[in-house]
Amino acid sequence: MAALTSIFLTGLLLALRVSGQAYDAIDREEDAFSYVQPLDTVILGQYGHSPAVLPSPNATGVGGWEAALVRAQAFVAQLTLEEKAYMVTGQPGPCVGNIIPIPRLNFSGLCLQDGPLAIRVADYASVFSAGVSAAATWDKAILYERGHAMGEEFRAKGAHIALAPVCGPLGRSAYSGRNWEGFAADPYLTGIAMERTIEGIQDAGVQATAKHYIGNEQETQRNPTYNPNGTLTDVIQEAISANIDDRTLHELYLWPFANAAHAKAASFMCAYQRLNGSYACENSKAQNGLLKEELGFQGYIMSDWGGTHSGVASIEGGLDMDMPGGIGTYGLFPQAGSFFGDNVTMAVQNGTVPESRLDDMITRIMTPYYWLGQDVNFPSVDPSTADLNTFSPRSTWLRNWTLTGESSRDVRDDHGELIRKHGSAGTVLLKNTNGALPLKKPRSIAVFGNDAGEDTQGFYNQANFEYGTLVSGGGSGTGRLTYLITPLQAINERAKQDNTLVQQWLNNTLIINSNIANLWIPQVPDVCLVFLKTWAEEAADRQHLSVDWNGNEVVETVARDCNNTIVITHSSGINTLPWADHPNVTAILAAHYPGEQSGYSLIDLLYGAVNPSGHLPYTIALNGTDYNAPPTTAVNTTGKDDWQSYFTEKLEIDYRYFDANNISVRYEFGYGLSYTTFEISNVQSTPLQTNITASPPSLPIEPGGNPALWAPIYNVSITLSNTGPYAGAAVPQLYLGFPSSTPSGTPPKQLRGFEKVYLERNETQTVTFELMRRDLSYWDVVSQEWVIPAGEFSMFVGMSSRDIRVTGRVTVV
Ligand SMILES: *[C@@H]1O[C@H](CO)[C@@H](O)[C@H](O)[C@H]1NC(C)=O
Ligand SMILES: *[C@@H]1O[C@H](CO)[C@@H](O)[C@H](O)[C@H]1NC(C)=O
Ligand SMILES: *[C@@H]1O[C@H](CO)[C@@H](O)[C@H](O)[C@H]1NC(C)=O
Ligand SMILES: *[C@@H]1O[C@H](CO)[C@@H](O)[C@H](O)[C@H]1NC(C)=O
Ligand SMILES: *[C@@H]1O[C@H](CO)[C@@H](O)[C@H](O)[C@H]1NC(C)=O
Ligand SMILES: *[C@@H]1O[C@H](CO)[C@@H](O)[C@H](O)[C@H]1NC(C)=O
Ligand SMILES: *[C@@H]1O[C@H](CO)[C@@H](O)[C@H](O)[C@H]1NC(C)=O
Ligand SMILES: *[C@@H]1O[C@H](CO)[C@@H](O)[C@H](O)[C@H]1NC(C)=O
Ligand SMILES: *[C@@H]1O[C@H](CO)[C@@H](O)[C@H](O)[C@H]1NC(C)=O
Ligand SMILES: *[C@@H]1O[C@H](CO)[C@@H](O)[C@H](O)[C@H]1NC(C)=O
Ligand SMILES: *[C@@H]1O[C@H](CO)[C@@H](O)[C@H](O)[C@H]1NC(C)=O
Ligand SMILES: *[C@@H]1O[C@H](CO)[C@@H](O)[C@H](O)[C@H]1NC(C)=O
Repeated sequence: MAALTSIFLTGLLLALRVSGQAYDAIDREEDAFSYVQPLDTVILGQYGHSPAVLPSPNATGVGGWEAALVRAQAFVAQLTLEEKAYMVTGQPGPCVGNIIPIPRLNFSGLCLQDGPLAIRVADYASVFSAGVSAAATWDKAILYERGHAMGEEFRAKGAHIALAPVCGPLGRSAYSGRNWEGFAADPYLTGIAMERTIEGIQDAGVQATAKHYIGNEQETQRNPTYNPNGTLTDVIQEAISANIDDRTLHELYLWPFANAAHAKAASFMCAYQRLNGSYACENSKAQNGLLKEELGFQGYIMSDWGGTHSGVASIEGGLDMDMPGGIGTYGLFPQAGSFFGDNVTMAVQNGTVPESRLDDMITRIMTPYYWLGQDVNFPSVDPSTADLNTFSPRSTWLRNWTLTGESSRDVRDDHGELIRKHGSAGTVLLKNTNGALPLKKPRSIAVFGNDAGEDTQGFYNQANFEYGTLVSGGGSGTGRLTYLITPLQAINERAKQDNTLVQQWLNNTLIINSNIANLWIPQVPDVCLVFLKTWAEEAADRQHLSVDWNGNEVVETVARDCNNTIVITHSSGINTLPWADHPNVTAILAAHYPGEQSGYSLIDLLYGAVNPSGHLPYTIALNGTDYNAPPTTAVNTTGKDDWQSYFTEKLEIDYRYFDANNISVRYEFGYGLSYTTFEISNVQSTPLQTNITASPPSLPIEPGGNPALWAPIYNVSITLSNTGPYAGAAVPQLYLGFPSSTPSGTPPKQLRGFEKVYLERNETQTVTFELMRRDLSYWDVVSQEWVIPAGEFSMFVGMSSRDIRVTGRVTVV
């Protein structure tokens, strides 16, 4: 029990940690946020209400899982009630989440593993680029390829279920600590990223988990505050409630989850926090109503780790699997017991929960298992996993897990080459003046900044330590590096080829306190490369939007004496860049979190082997205070339910907000430069259906919802030409302005199409954006339908959300 208690406490600490830790970085006045939600200024009637949607619907297997569902039902029919309780309740074991084997039925259990950029609890596995990098590629092929390669590694390590990908947070707030795990601050781009990633993972034979469902837009108070002197159910204050109106929920936060359901994601993970007053994992409107009914989801909902706050209510509310669970009094949460486990058995025996509901929970869990063929020749859990698993180490196990097969399997294959490519493709060239880039065999290079060199404190869950380059953020979404190509290493290798002189200063404090001109020999370097970093992690929101470790001062110090200063950031995403217009800062690259090949990914761009083609999946404002919708970081009162976050900005997040309010920004959503130039001309639209109706025909629900919403109804095409000196890839983007008949609050422009197109010099191609019904609709709260508004849509096609090159008009209904 002692061991169990300590493990529990570790888990609790992880779960309860909020943003109180010390940040060593400068806390710039304009970026610091402290926001007390003014309770009395919001109209409570719009929010704080989540109607009950009961009962939880049975899965039918519709949409291609019918045969697998029959097999799942046959499996369920053989289970005892006790085994049924085990099937829906996690237990300590080798993986981050475990469903125990039932040898009698040749079922070898389920292994659930983190996370969105790597199989985290593993050795000899790859660390891929983070979600923010993947989104910045705007490349549908890379999104699939990355998902597929990750899926291969999960499978080879014996993980049935990948706890990935992430679309909650979506990026409501620039400060949210986990935005980098997800994709873009835009539902359309994120939706496509979800769909492609899920297809990639599942085509590799591994179940994907769309998380965190729904409204998980901040880390602060994502879990309740418990009385430290009381029992573990003694709540002082409940978790934050994300209060979101129906239209906003559909058009922003539910949108990418609909893509996940459409892509037949095996599972969804419900979020820690509350939604409109009730915990996400027991919210029947969200789970039964929106997900299982409206979106026709056929898989299972698992809880985030420790996110289950009730037994019967959660089961009725649609939760299908409790993680990490615990059975009886021996559970991971010994003082609290588990709301599932033996309680499920009791609830069925005393007639509170119909056994058919329990059967449906297991049917939903086993259907994707059979659909993906996981019952045949699935690799065993790599025994080394158990040694690396700090969440439920061997000492906590309640049963013998027979671990077979080779230990410490190397599952990396040739994925390093892909990661190198993905890292380059997810790097955004923000500025390039005076022909600074690409480099042409410079005579001398000076390297500055603590983000350039070797990591000094280990290769796992790096934390915000001072010395070493960043390739990932922290928490359950991190990865365990097996090697790391640092920028400095890659630059040195390349410099040797070119006989370039390289000098380096990695100590930011020293740089800031130096007269830079006295440091280098013998004269001003041809190029000064400044490496900056920004840390973000699970369980904490960001304190500011600046780069860390006095990075702004490092740039200013170097640029004072070096007229060719090129800045590279490794960052979770949004950074204010106050020095961006400095005339001596000739180029800026936002390299995000690129994964293990970081240095090679970068020099491919610096030296022009790869032409930059990344575009921002968020907006960089002029000032940190320009962003709206900050996290709620404090409440003024001590009431149990007082942590509330009202999403009163509604549809106006990121570029939708800046556009609607005519706010100038530094680099807008969708922005990204190339070494070549592109031209767009000739926008045309063609209906693909005749007699398009405003409301969708009422068709039987399939995964993703009414299939009519997914039917292409319009094509928009443009002519795209490479008019510059290099071959390269462009990302033409289609934004729609909705007709004036659309209800008020509709953003001026919304992304509804993009393609990544590679063009040789002088090459011209026709690019087509296919619009489906959902793309041309708004969510009508009265009819509870997606409706195409009457009147003229504006079509804006350009190279970013503000660099619009051609416009057109089209009337659809
Ligand atoms: C950012 O905005 C704040 C508040 O409006 C202002 O005090 C500050 O000077 C601004 N900073 C910059 C760099 O413009
Ligand atoms: C689910 O299916 C079972 C068995 O057919 C049935 O008894 C139960 O009523 C169904 N539940 C719902 C919510 O339709
Ligand atoms: C917990 O106990 C400590 C020590 O008695 C006390 O200082 C603290 O106020 C208690 N906390 C709560 C929330 O009751
Ligand atoms: C059942 O759930 C309750 C909380 O509702 C918990 O206190 C109890 O320990 C659980 N029982 C078991 C056997 O896990
Ligand atoms: C049935 O069991 C469940 C789980 O232990 C419990 O929550 C519920 O109160 C019980 N209901 C009755 C009527 O005994
Ligand atoms: C696990 O297996 C070992 C060796 O077979 C045995 O000695 C031990 O009792 C088993 N433990 C449990 C909890 O079943
Ligand atoms: C970095 O430079 C500062 C200022 O010169 C110095 O105090 C500090 O010890 C240096 N850090 C390391 C790790 O050398
Ligand atoms: C730019 O760098 C040059 C040295 O090359 C320096 O003389 C000049 O003052 C710098 N410009 C600014 C604005 O700092
Ligand atoms: C930097 O200054 C040097 C002279 O000191 C000049 O030759 C060079 O062209 C300048 N470079 C840029 C990028 O302005
Ligand atoms: C916090 O509470 C105090 C005392 O009731 C009140 O004066 C103040 O306006 C409150 N602040 C906010 C932001 O609600
Ligand atoms: C389209 O609508 C018109 C007028 O209502 C009707 O005459 C025509 O047959 C319809 N065409 C199709 C393909 O349904
Ligand atoms: C591109 O077109 C220009 C102008 O027609 C021509 O001079 C140039 O040779 C062409 N370049 C390539 C690579 O075809």
